[in-house]
Amino acid sequence: MQKLLLLIALIVCIVDADQQPKCPCDDQNDCKRIMTNWKTNQTIGYVLESDSNIWSTFKWNKLTMIALIDFHQPKLMCLAHHNKIRIMAFGNFTLNDLSSSDKMHEWIENRIKEAQNNFYDGINLFIDDPVEPNSTFSQRITDFVSLTTKHFHEKLPGSIVLFNAPFSPKNEKGKAVDGKNYDYVAISKSVDLMIAMDFDQRSQSFDEPKCLAGAPESLYITIGSLMAYKNIGVDLNRMILTLGFYVDEYLCIEYHQNYRCIIQPYNYRGANCSSKIANRIPWNVYKTMIGQCWIQVWDEHSNHDIYTYLDNSIYGQIKQYWSDYPAIFKKMILIDENQMSGIGVWMLNYLDDKIWSQLPERQ
Ligand SMILES: *[C@@H]1O[C@H](CO)[C@@H](O)[C@H](O)[C@H]1NC(C)=O
Ligand SMILES: *[C@@H]1O[C@H](CO)[C@@H](O)[C@H](O)[C@H]1NC(C)=O
Ligand SMILES: *[C@@H]1O[C@H](CO)[C@@H](O)[C@H](O)[C@H]1NC(C)=O
Ligand SMILES: *[C@@H]1O[C@H](CO)[C@@H](O)[C@H](O)[C@H]1NC(C)=O
Repeated sequence: MQKLLLLIALIVCIVDADQQPKCPCDDQNDCKRIMTNWKTNQTIGYVLESDSNIWSTFKWNKLTMIALIDFHQPKLMCLAHHNKIRIMAFGNFTLNDLSSSDKMHEWIENRIKEAQNNFYDGINLFIDDPVEPNSTFSQRITDFVSLTTKHFHEKLPGSIVLFNAPFSPKNEKGKAVDGKNYDYVAISKSVDLMIAMDFDQRSQSFDEPKCLAGAPESLYITIGSLMAYKNIGVDLNRMILTLGFYVDEYLCIEYHQNYRCIIQPYNYRGANCSSKIANRIPWNVYKTMIGQCWIQVWDEHSNHDIYTYLDNSIYGQIKQYWSDYPAIFKKMILIDENQMSGIGVWMLNYLDDKIWSQLPERQ
């Protein structure tokens, strides 16, 4: 009897695996892939694991896509689709996933299954591993991205594939940012849209002689970086500019005139200084911290606000905060001037009502 039951269970399982996944939405139409334009006027919002307390703050008329960072929530899919918003998986991969052709195919197959089971509209690819220029692995990344795009397009008609690139192809030393010597031109041609992550501009800082606190997202560096992408042959018309909505908190080990905050050195991929040492605070959390003893100054070099705070809990401790909050309008102008595909928000969880109100309406 037990054996028979097991057999039946096994058969049921096999049959089940072949069946279409069940649509979890009240309206079955909400499980259909979104087929609207994705080439222009896009706003993509990245979402960290959260529940409907957070989603209920989303202004759906200001979004066209959301990408979920490592979680699935059928209810959120239904909600997004009901508002005609694409929903994407966030597809981190590493060089380890590219060690053989079998591994690559396995990765792609798993992510296609995931997209099918969760009724996603595509995937947002991301890799952070450093590779040598023109190396085997650099080539393999290009091939892998192209293969993933091809398979998604074939297996899930109408789906789209995005690739998250750093703020610039080059750092201030003329080398690839964070050692990521990827072939950005080839990658941008094979995916549907490339995303420039405009933040983290100081992950490699080459300050001399001492490390300095600084802006995560300087407007001038952004302008230069977009030009750098254009110069190597990336089509900005198929690129989204994603802004970070967090604040870098630095502890100053020395504090000099003109708000110069000297920070601890931190080695990161060939640089002696890095914003990796900073404490990253979501904008909406930071906003609640600002008090009367904060000094706010405008830094013309980066087009940033700097907030400096004397922490009384430890005598003489000074912290400096860099925020990009006032630059949204200026970045929107850049996006329009360069006829880019749109803007991205890293992360929707970090926004407050005021920032939501500054985002453009999309539908
Ligand atoms: C994109 O938005 C602009 C206004 O910001 C509008 O003029 C333009 O027609 C829109 N393009 C498309 C393809 O919808
Ligand atoms: C994927 O990358 C994002 C962005 O860096 C990160 O927040 C997330 O934790 C990563 N997930 C995994 C599983 O590595
Ligand atoms: C390496 O690739 C870049 C473009 O990605 C190209 O401009 C350069 O000539 C290549 N260098 C070598 C040594 O092949
Ligand atoms: C990092 O610091 C070391 C020791 O002071 C120095 O020799 C090296 O040139 C510095 N590297 C960079 C990239 O500035």
